[in-house]
Amino acid sequence: MTGERPRVLITEQDIQRRVTELARRIDADFEKSDEILLLGVLRGAFIFLADLARQLETPNRVDFIALSSYENGSQFAGGVRLIMDSRINVSGRHVLIVEDILDSGRTLEYLLETFEARHPASLRSCALVRKPGQEVPVELDYLGFDIPDEWVVGYGLDFGDHFRTLPYIGVVEPDQPGAG
Ligand code: IMP
Ligand code: MG
Repeated sequence: MTGERPRVLITEQDIQRRVTELARRIDADFEKSDEILLLGVLRGAFIFLADLARQLETPNRVDFIALSSYENGSQFAGGVRLIMDSRINVSGRHVLIVEDILDSGRTLEYLLETFEARHPASLRSCALVRKPGQEVPVELDYLGFDIPDEWVVGYGLDFGDHFRTLPYIGVVEPDQPGAG
């Protein structure tokens, strides 16, 4: 198993400070909105969403969606599929998609297309971290941190389902037991 602790990239304190900053910006931007629907992408965004939602002063509802990537070699290689839809109808609501990480951009591209088609009053996106080099251009309204192109874990992010509940964001070293 994964015995060693991942190397710290972003401390718990820095994450909390940044989440509070993001919440203040979101509150300011949604000042004229009655309510925000926070749409968290399972499973990686669950901790980020929980902290962000509790820092918001704007009234909000919380809902979750889950996605699955198609396997390489399938007809839809590189594609994304909704395996659990939202339970709240997004039509006419101010929707904020809350993602863990923006990498290729394909996931967020898919989500923005999918939910835009359902006629929300507005649609914005938020990600905790962003890696360099998106393959598709996507608009991100709120970002926690830009990070180097390394596999990160903790604060909801996993490596083979490990490390999700670490309080900080860390990097799994390639020679670490359980990696690679
Ligand atoms: P993309 O932007 O469509 O490439 O998808 C990014 C998704 O891949 C994220 O939502 C994560 O689930 C996963 N992912 C990408 N990089 C990492 C990482 O470094 N750690 C954990 N999950 C990652
Ligand atoms: Mg994800």
